[in-house]
Amino acid sequence: MTTYLEQQRARIEDALERLVPEETAVPPAIHRAMRYSLFAGGKRIRSVFCLEAAQLVSSDPVPDIEAISCTLEMVHTYSLIHDDLPALDNDDFRRGKPTCHKVFGEATAILAGDALLTLAFQVLATLPHTSGDIRAALATELSRAAGTVNGMIGGQVADLEAVNNSFDPEKLEYIHRSKTAALFRASVCLGAIAAQATPEQLAAISRFGENAGMAFQVVDDILDVESSREELGKTVGKDVLQKKVTYPALYGMEQSSQMAAGFIGEAQEALRPFRENAARLKELSEYLVSRKV
Ligand code: IPE
Ligand code: IPE
Ligand code: MG
Ligand code: MG
Ligand code: MG
Repeated sequence: MTTYLEQQRARIEDALERLVPEETAVPPAIHRAMRYSLFAGGKRIRSVFCLEAAQLVSSDPVPDIEAISCTLEMVHTYSLIHDDLPALDNDDFRRGKPTCHKVFGEATAILAGDALLTLAFQVLATLPHTSGDIRAALATELSRAAGTVNGMIGGQVADLEAVNNSFDPEKLEYIHRSKTAALFRASVCLGAIAAQATPEQLAAISRFGENAGMAFQVVDDILDVESSREELGKTVGKDVLQKKVTYPALYGMEQSSQMAAGFIGEAQEALRPFRENAARLKELSEYLVSRKV
């Protein structure tokens, strides 16, 4: 599995390298900041999920699939740069390095996030080997997932508003579904859409992605409690300090782990129609909960 993940990641790194303007492109300050955060060593989970979902739907190679996968990393990295800003989580470390605003200043970090988001949609709009209908469907799914209604921005707003709030399981689930699970859902859905999935296949893959994304964020909350900065590459212990509404805060560690496993069970159940063809996507989803980083 590790070798396989490495191979898929290498495909993504190569494609990203080609899609993002070089550091020397004018004005260099913004391209340096974009590249600094994008190539700081993310796990590339979302893009690998996208590649895998495409392969599940189509045994033939799917045109432009690497570029499509890269748009998820662009939107994800933008969300991290902004999530770390002093006005949001105010974090100094990300992917084992000082955060974008620590190195380049807040103004450039804000613009680098904006630029990565914009670039993602430029890439989707100009995919050379993909029909206009599919390009529109991809952009629709990604923009919804990153947006305000049950999407990433909506979840981030609720995450900030919920600080200091009392036990509210529904609000907690809304936050995690929106800020994180939506982009995971989009990750697999982009792959499936590009591979021309049937509506039934897309619905199953969407349900898989959303539940896998829930498990991923529950585990992120758990790791914030029990991991270290060295291991995780980002600040830990901040959720408690900042009184964030998280699964461990509301349910405790033990029950949170069980809930993460429950979401993975639900995710795998959704893949049942694909039978043994879904083996690798299932295996990948198990990695989401067994991971230590
Ligand atoms: C971190 O995501 C932010 C969350 C949504 C929990 P990742 O853990 O996938 O971050 P990278 O891309 O590997 O740095
Ligand atoms: C972030 O959640 C989710 C995003 C949309 C970026 P967190 O605030 O828990 O992510 P980390 O722990 O800083 O990576
Ligand atoms: Mg946050
Ligand atoms: Mg954060
Ligand atoms: Mg976190």
